[in-house]
Amino acid sequence: MSEPNRLPDAAALRAVFSRFPTGVAVIGVRTASGASGGMTANALCSLSLNPLLVLVCFEREARTLPLVEEAGRFSVNILGENDEALAERFASKLGEAEKLSSVPHHDELGLPVLEASIAWLACTVKEVLPGGDHAIVIGEVDALGSRDGKPLVWESGRYARLATDPADQ
Ligand SMILES: Cc1cc2nc3c(=O)[nH]c(=O)nc-3n(C[C@H](O)[C@H](O)[C@H](O)COP(=O)(O)O)c2cc1C
Repeated sequence: MSEPNRLPDAAALRAVFSRFPTGVAVIGVRTASGASGGMTANALCSLSLNPLLVLVCFEREARTLPLVEEAGRFSVNILGENDEALAERFASKLGEAEKLSSVPHHDELGLPVLEASIAWLACTVKEVLPGGDHAIVIGEVDALGSRDGKPLVWESGRYARLATDPADQ
């Protein structure tokens, strides 16, 4: 173990979380006026089973956040292991509508679901809570789906894939 860091900063906290691999998702949104958006996110967590709640943390500057607040709804699209390019697209600052327009998707309960996703959720916003420089959006799950496929992984600040267990071969 390294010496305790009792004056931690953002870089030190990031370094700790680089040891905590996550999946990678695209949060999708479409407002009543038809504006759409999408944002790559890994600060995504299952929160409650009764009721069915999830939470997503949005940077305050994320352009997708006001769209989600306006729509009162969002989708969660969990990306497969070959979908790094999609993750980078939705992590970019391309025009919000442009991000989604050329990506194959369909609507579920009026929310964009990417054809590439290996699992998805359609959620209604229940609460938006302050969380420092982020907003914590809690959503109730209205619909979901999944298919076979391995997830894309984010670890140590880069994309990774799960190793195949030799026992499965
Ligand atoms: C792997 C990965 C995970 C990310 N996770 C989050 C996240 O959980 N919350 C967030 O606000 N931004 C996250 N980002 C950054 C956003 O995707 C990025 O700021 C994006 O440009 C936001 O798009 P928008 O401004 O169109 O909403 C992540 C980026 C990457 C590459």
